[in-house]
Amino acid sequence: MTASQPVNATGRILAIETSCDETAVAVVQDGRRIVSSVVASQVALHAATGGIVPEIAARAHLRWMIPVLEEARERAGLEDWSSLEAVAVTEGPGLAGSLLVGIAMAKTLAWAHRLPLVPVNHLEGHIYAAWLLDADDRERAAPTFPLVALVVSGGHTFLVEMADHLRYRLLGQTVDDAAGEAFDKVGRLLGLPYPGGPAIMHAASGAVERDRRFPRAWLGDSFDFSFSGLKSAARRAVDQEPAAQQGDPSGNGRLPDQVVAELAYGFQESVVDVLATKTALAAERCGARSIVLGGGVAANQVLRDRIAGRADALGVRLIVPRPALCTDNAAMIGAAGFFRARDGARAGLDLDARPSLKLAVRAPG
Ligand code: KG4
Ligand code: ZN
Repeated sequence: MTASQPVNATGRILAIETSCDETAVAVVQDGRRIVSSVVASQVALHAATGGIVPEIAARAHLRWMIPVLEEARERAGLEDWSSLEAVAVTEGPGLAGSLLVGIAMAKTLAWAHRLPLVPVNHLEGHIYAAWLLDADDRERAAPTFPLVALVVSGGHTFLVEMADHLRYRLLGQTVDDAAGEAFDKVGRLLGLPYPGGPAIMHAASGAVERDRRFPRAWLGDSFDFSFSGLKSAARRAVDQEPAAQQGDPSGNGRLPDQVVAELAYGFQESVVDVLATKTALAAERCGARSIVLGGGVAANQVLRDRIAGRADALGVRLIVPRPALCTDNAAMIGAAGFFRARDGARAGLDLDARPSLKLAVRAPG
């Protein structure tokens, strides 16, 4: 798997993503146009435990890998994989067992079809989702540099500046929980189904009273985030509700729907306020020409609208992928993989899972 191998410069990348609980395969043209994209979600499988069980996730990837791959090939109208430019695969961060399934598949396909194997950082994928165009989308300009990207997922929350393709400068990151993790934990506290993010967004939209205020961790002038205090505040608020107290007359300990809606609203407002304020400030300080949002929490409509308002006020272009491209998918790996491949990134058959891979580290000083 070296430069001596033939490279078909067709611009078509096969991408495989299995870092967490979605088995995903896509074909992407020139780092932008989605030719096909298939995602098999394990959400229903993990709902019973209220979170992901790594062994169960890995087994489900094994079960779905081939059917998803075949579906992506058929939808792309391809007889086989030989006409591709490269095979891109998520090498990390993520769950080791889950990553291994995608990596093993990608290695085998790359070897069998004599294609370059391109390792991709999952977090870079979330940023490059902003480059994607659906098959029937009209052409539109790609994000322009310098840009500021906010990635908010189940495991990560950070702000980076990009001066150019594949160049990252870390501006700030969470010092405790990721934003998605906070949504999931507070969702559980409120008795909402897994995953908490969409459930809280839905519940919050039904809030009549909107005056419950949760703390905001500004952390001074930094671009860092903290959500663990917010989670504790949510726990205290729940514990103070009569329905949560011992001897609740309703007997089931469940919070009334309207209380859940109000708490969900207050919590969401706090997260969105901090994320939108810090992102806008970062864009202003960096002189950004675009703002890019990615990761599962970027599927949140309130966050999208709030940042859109801030970007508008700054006169900076905002690019947010449609919700299904904010949550985990392989098309984003195909987009990042294209730019990585053109940059010369190659892996050998010894490519291994890197569960704790970082995208960018803070510059010293
Ligand atoms: O990026 P992603 O699909 O997987 C990771 O790489 O972690 O993000 C999943 C996270 C979960 O925590 C989920 O609750 C959150 O994204 N999420 C949302 C929404 N949709 C998904 N959070 C808030 N609002 C949403 N609509
Ligand atoms: Zn993700």
